[in-house]
Amino acid sequence: MKLILLGPPGAGKGTQAKMLTEQFFIPQISTGDILRAAVKDGTAMGLKAKEFMDAGGLVPDEVVVGIVRDRLQEKDCINGFILDGFPRTVPQADALQASLAEMGKELDRVISLDVDAEALVERLTGRRTCKECGRGYHVTFDPSSVVGKCDACGGALFQRDDDQEETIRKRLQVYADQTSPLINYYRDAGVLLELDGMQPISQVQEKMLSLLQAS
Ligand code: AP5
Ligand code: MG
Ligand code: ZN
Repeated sequence: MKLILLGPPGAGKGTQAKMLTEQFFIPQISTGDILRAAVKDGTAMGLKAKEFMDAGGLVPDEVVVGIVRDRLQEKDCINGFILDGFPRTVPQADALQASLAEMGKELDRVISLDVDAEALVERLTGRRTCKECGRGYHVTFDPSSVVGKCDACGGALFQRDDDQEETIRKRLQVYADQTSPLINYYRDAGVLLELDGMQPISQVQEKMLSLLQAS
């Protein structure tokens, strides 16, 4: 299955992608996670990307397009993949189409998660992530059993630098301006599935699986 999860910051792309990887044994490709790893490693690309990420803006198309093109060539993508946070602009979507065509592949589905702006702010300000394994939590909606500690691996939980309210609002605006046109882009391509992301995590998961099975 070759999937894109589309949706604003905090819609639950990462949360649902992790569930789908276990369900379908295909990798989650999160450009945000790849960029944060590059920032942590202090690579030249990471240093450049950090400025854009801290400001809540988008990293230039050519950087992320190159990352995804290389990642899709890796062996674990042979049976499919879940793109989380890519594409985010029309040029990125066009570049993805070209990369897949070169590999003789085609997208199966794009799932668009719809969530109200105020709920997104609440989700992002309360998000916590495990430093070791990357599992996501929410202080209210999906808390760990021990405060500050990952249930899965015991790692310390941290808050992302860009999850401050001012940066969150900037990211939501960038989504509305630059990424939301992709909803029509993929609707026109006949691959869009729309899902109400305002329900609890487990219900979104159930609906997503039944939509994928029905399509
Ligand atoms: P990225 O890491 O992709 O961030 P994002 O798109 O802003 O999305 P988030 O990760 O914030 O949200 P999510 O939808 O994954 O939500 P989650 O499941 O964690 O990108 C970061 C930055 O990198 C960008 O700003 C940009 O600078 C750069 N970048 C990345 N990709 C790029 C690209 N393609 N082009 C250019 N630049 C790029 O859930 C959020 C919280 O809500 C969690 O705490 C979770 O527990 C909770 N939650 C989830 N679902 C529910 C639910 N149903 N009910 C209640 N709580 C829920
Ligand atoms: Mg995410
Ligand atoms: Zn962990």
